[in-house]
Amino acid sequence: MQNKQRQASRKKGWRTASTSDIHELYELSVQEPEAEVDFIDQVWKELRGRKASSIREDFCGTAIASMEWVKRRKTNFAWGVDLDPEVLDWGRARLPDRLTPAQAKRLTLIEGDVLKTKIDPVDSLLAMNFSYYIFKTQKDIKKYFKCAFAALKNDGLFMLDAYGGSDSFLEMEEDRDLDGFTYIWDQAYYNPINGDATNHIHFRFPDGTRIRRAFTYHWRLWTLPEIRELLLQVGFQKVHVYWEGTDEETGEGNDEWTITDRGEACPGWIAYIVAEK
Ligand SMILES: C[S@@+](CC[C@H](N)C(=O)[O-])C[C@H]1O[C@@H](n2cnc3c(N)ncnc32)[C@H](O)[C@@H]1O
Repeated sequence: MQNKQRQASRKKGWRTASTSDIHELYELSVQEPEAEVDFIDQVWKELRGRKASSIREDFCGTAIASMEWVKRRKTNFAWGVDLDPEVLDWGRARLPDRLTPAQAKRLTLIEGDVLKTKIDPVDSLLAMNFSYYIFKTQKDIKKYFKCAFAALKNDGLFMLDAYGGSDSFLEMEEDRDLDGFTYIWDQAYYNPINGDATNHIHFRFPDGTRIRRAFTYHWRLWTLPEIRELLLQVGFQKVHVYWEGTDEETGEGNDEWTITDRGEACPGWIAYIVAEK
């Protein structure tokens, strides 16, 4: 067996439930910090003709996007906010491996509630991976959107993501084989009357072991028109939807995002929303 092949097969069989770390698996499965930071730069160039320097990453978890932000340019600063001390400690413990001391100085991790945390206004506020779906009523989500508005500088941009499509309203599971493990997105419960959804993330390993319910989310499945209207109601001037292009060969998303008013009525999509203060 060639050396490269041997390495690849060893790598594939390497993970098991007992040797795996759920935060590492989460980052590998659902996060693309470089692409996220590319997107922030793209939007700032398009809408403001310059680069942003300060971001606040709400619901930051391991804060990998904030870390990528401070790595990108010496003039960049980031604040990450999360309620959970355990996930923040996990991120903090990895700072020395991921950032130089100078980069780490430009990152502040805050244990706190996004509704109560106040820092100096920033260029961009991020709420990614649908984390703000925890707010289940118009009253509560508007409270958060008002905090986001107040957290931004006068020309600031609030960036969120959203998911939808016909499959999002179904109770179903979807598997994705990754490097040495399988990621399972489990839409376990959906109530069409009030929009409540419970989703889990499970992981399965080549030796048959599993980590069930590594993460569980109790969300309201908001739609794009609702989110846009509520953002406008709290004072944002304009709300854009960035829709992903399609790779003609694979039929999958191509990571190219453009502002549009017409999306595709497909089974599953993820979009970015950008609200201009
Ligand atoms: C879905 S994870 C998002 C992680 C990361 N932002 C990402 O893009 O993948 C949601 C995170 O939100 C945090 N969280 C939930 N409610 C919060 C609140 N009210 N204030 C701050 N963080 C909160 C949780 O502790 C969890 O780490």
